[in-house]
Amino acid sequence: MKRVGVLVSGRGSNLQALVAAAREGRLGGEVAVVVSNVAGAPALDKAQAAGVPAVVCDHRGKPREEHDRSMLGVLNDHGVELVCLAGYMRLLSPVLLGAMPHRVVNIHPSLLPAFPGLDAQRQAWEYGVKVAGATVHLVEEPLDAGPIVMQEAVSVQADDTPESLAGRILEAEHHLYPRAVRVLLGGRWRLEGRRFVATARLTRGCVDVVTRPALEEKLRRGRPLTVKVGFDPTAPDIHLGHTVLMRKMREFQDEGHRVVYVIGDFTGMIGDPTGRSKTRPPLSREEIERNADTYKKQAFKILDPARTETRFNSEWLEALGSAGFVRLAATYNVARMLERRDFRQRYEAGQPISMHEFLYSLAQAYDSVALKADVELGGTDQLFNLNVGRDIMPAYGLEPQVVMTTPLLEGTDGVEKMSKSLGNYVGVAEAPADMYAKLLSISDELMWRYYVLLTGLAPSEIEEERSAGRPMASKMALARRIVADFHGADAAEAAETEWRRVHQERRTPSEVPTVRVPPGDHRPHELLARAGLARSRSDAVRLLRQGAVRRDGMAVGPAAELRLAPGASFVLSIGPSRFVRIEAEGGEGKDRGK
Ligand code: GRF
Repeated sequence: MKRVGVLVSGRGSNLQALVAAAREGRLGGEVAVVVSNVAGAPALDKAQAAGVPAVVCDHRGKPREEHDRSMLGVLNDHGVELVCLAGYMRLLSPVLLGAMPHRVVNIHPSLLPAFPGLDAQRQAWEYGVKVAGATVHLVEEPLDAGPIVMQEAVSVQADDTPESLAGRILEAEHHLYPRAVRVLLGGRWRLEGRRFVATARLTRGCVDVVTRPALEEKLRRGRPLTVKVGFDPTAPDIHLGHTVLMRKMREFQDEGHRVVYVIGDFTGMIGDPTGRSKTRPPLSREEIERNADTYKKQAFKILDPARTETRFNSEWLEALGSAGFVRLAATYNVARMLERRDFRQRYEAGQPISMHEFLYSLAQAYDSVALKADVELGGTDQLFNLNVGRDIMPAYGLEPQVVMTTPLLEGTDGVEKMSKSLGNYVGVAEAPADMYAKLLSISDELMWRYYVLLTGLAPSEIEEERSAGRPMASKMALARRIVADFHGADAAEAAETEWRRVHQERRTPSEVPTVRVPPGDHRPHELLARAGLARSRSDAVRLLRQGAVRRDGMAVGPAAELRLAPGASFVLSIGPSRFVRIEAEGGEGKDRGK
């Protein structure tokens, strides 16, 4: 875990934001120590409340170098790699800056280089700027200079006072600082002269990047990119497989780019032929709207709603009209269309391809034109569609978009792609205990793939976890992390406690439905059907053959006889999350599981 030291002199709200981000796994490290040069600073109480060690290094009566030396001693003792100034009100000397080159960072409440120095928010307000903001920069001498890591703009309202403006800037700081620290800790940056350039991260984990130099060129221009991602609202439930792409969208958001979440209400009515040998049935308007709402609700568990622009593509595709569609169709040719694998296969097999299926690719490509997309993201199965967007943009006088694809995630079986219809999925709206149990059931090998695709941890952090050589603990940490992403840390902890109760202590969940049967010997498939754990006798036999059935935690074979003594009970379970207590009729059951 990378360690951050925070230097403070006052209130400490940025310190709090950094600590909160670390706790939620958004910082890429932990706050290891807080150093204040002022004994009574409120920031010290905040550190204490958060359980972070806090040290006072009083500067009074000491030369600057000596004071910095004592702070450096504390920072070194705590193994600090990055120092964050958060309302630290003194200049640093070369003693500290020289010892930690490019590893000291500051947040300043203006868009530097405008308004350095004290009371920057008021200076900006008095100047009458229409856009103010905050800057995170590497610290060099002199004051408030040094390469700019990240900035966030805040627009000035007509009725703002210096105080109301300062309040909104401070809120922006609380988002900005953790994001910048994450980039710095991740080491994904370099200096080009005075320019701080974030690198590589955006393409990490992508399968196709068409093309990397074009992406670098776009990033070099320094303006936020428009990143398009299209979703056809055909299936309303998002599972972890979809979140691989969403995490990539979030990374773009975290770097300050504009992500446009295109809901394909128009294209959804055409039906995407990807991966299908038959065309998909078109959806009704009502279905599309219902699905889109569910999609958005679930997607915002990963995406930052404040930085996500949601657009329905009927907005521009309906406006295009038939003349516009004909012009659009003229930008592409049939031979290119037939390069698409599923079209080619159907064509070669003499199966029909309807004209409207060609229009699907073109219509979604036109989304990129309408949005002037710089980048389009999608799963690897969308590569063809994404490239059509890239290909037609020059015909509309636009620079071709960069296309980036993310891998398709294997389901919990580790074999097939995660999908609802194959039953190997973990839905983001599933109850915490179910999510946790499903994640604990994956193989060790698959676990590392999930670490890479579903956690946003840096490769070095994953390697550290892996080399610790304790796969069960790593799997539990993974499940906890993923459940916390969707349900919060408390729910994740509760899910883990419950799982431990059930699996490690061989107990059963606190709320287990009970079914009463006469005492005596029972065939397992009969009990399974009676308990509602199997749909039918043959389903029960299949489950028994697969070894999925347990009695009080012990495997039960298809030929077993299950004896139920008068007054006794036992728990039948299937997989990690389905339990029924079987209790003998005519008496209080004794819990043999405990
Ligand atoms: C912030 O406005 C920051 O930009 C400036 O000092 C202030 C510190 O506030 N460098 P807090 O102590 O983090 O609340």
